[in-house]
Amino acid sequence: MLELKDFATLSRKETPFWYYDMDLLRATVDKAAELARRYGIGLHYAVKANVEPRIVQYISSRGFGADCVSGNEVLFAAANGFRPEIIVFAGVGKSDREINAALDLGIEAFNCESVMEMNVIDSLAAAKGVKANVSVRINPNIDAHTHRYVTTGLYENKFGISRHEFDTVIDLLKNARNLNFIGLHFHIGSQITDVRDVYSLECRRAAEIVDYFESRGLKVDSIDLGGGLGVDYDDPDGNPVPDFETWFSTVDSCLRRRPDQKVSLEPGRSLVAQCGTLVTRVLFVKNGETKAFLIMDAGMNDLIRPALYGAYHKIENLTAAFEGREDGIQQYDVVGPVCESSDVWGSGRDLPFSVRGDLMALRSAGAYGSVMSSRYNLRDIAPAVFSDEL
Ligand code: LLP
Repeated sequence: MLELKDFATLSRKETPFWYYDMDLLRATVDKAAELARRYGIGLHYAVKANVEPRIVQYISSRGFGADCVSGNEVLFAAANGFRPEIIVFAGVGKSDREINAALDLGIEAFNCESVMEMNVIDSLAAAKGVKANVSVRINPNIDAHTHRYVTTGLYENKFGISRHEFDTVIDLLKNARNLNFIGLHFHIGSQITDVRDVYSLECRRAAEIVDYFESRGLKVDSIDLGGGLGVDYDDPDGNPVPDFETWFSTVDSCLRRRPDQKVSLEPGRSLVAQCGTLVTRVLFVKNGETKAFLIMDAGMNDLIRPALYGAYHKIENLTAAFEGREDGIQQYDVVGPVCESSDVWGSGRDLPFSVRGDLMALRSAGAYGSVMSSRYNLRDIAPAVFSDEL
């Protein structure tokens, strides 16, 4: 991932910082775009995964639409190259201000998650004398076989509209003067690795629900199956570009679609995770009673995924690798500086013998990394560094 000359430049920078491999970003985004074109699938980038303007602008320049979950994301997407007609707006709790902003912009569609939300959008659109395009986000009650914090398509989850309300929704949409029904939206979870099984089930369930809506007189022009394709956190160098082919071909072969129906997906993580690394430094080495700790200068406020989900991120000692000091493997608990016991990057990790000042890489951190960072403990927000600006 890193060349020696880049390492020399990076090692002079103040840590922590986010390092983005722009060649990998471009290769990943281009691959997804090219395959999607081949399969006739539209892509909306899930903006929540990473909002670095350079990254977002590259993605918008490749013809992607945007999937947003807040009014600010909608405005941000529009300011970073996405035309309003290709911006969709999901989320269970849209405020009136957010809905009004999206109506003023004239977005592609609101992915609506409750009956009450549809009534509110109808009346806010009426007050402006406009019609709002809406898609119904369905809760299909499908288990995505992923972490329970990132599964979204089960009845126990707050997302989407479930079967018992379909008839109410259909009546509402037929009668609402200021809503224009365009289709159905699904998103069942994130970091899905059982790609064929989970998405083929999602497609079958989606097809049944499309049939149901159409049999009740609502034409479904657009079917959006959400995001969720997983990435390889264990081996980011072995699998730098996720398996878009399996994802798209599963959707292509399992979803019965009419030629006039638009099908789209909403990748977030799969586009941006592997190009990002949180680069940090060993502040101190501490020999505890039972183990050795490497105390880093990046903490859970920078990248919360390990503390929040118990997520695994590969840790590498870049200095040891570039200096050829890779012998003498030791076991370390790699931790951050934040005053919380969960501020741990990895327990019992085998790493080369490490010393104060070593530059370390927390890999696969481009998705849900910097966007979820905070100033907890009044720590600074880490800056971004791009491989093509070194
Ligand atoms: N569409 C909708 C409606 C979503 O809610 C999400 C993600 C996506 C698309 C994109 O999913 P992706 O392709 O990135 O899996 N912070 C968690 C992940 C939360 C995902 C939330 N929704 C994590 O770090 O694992």
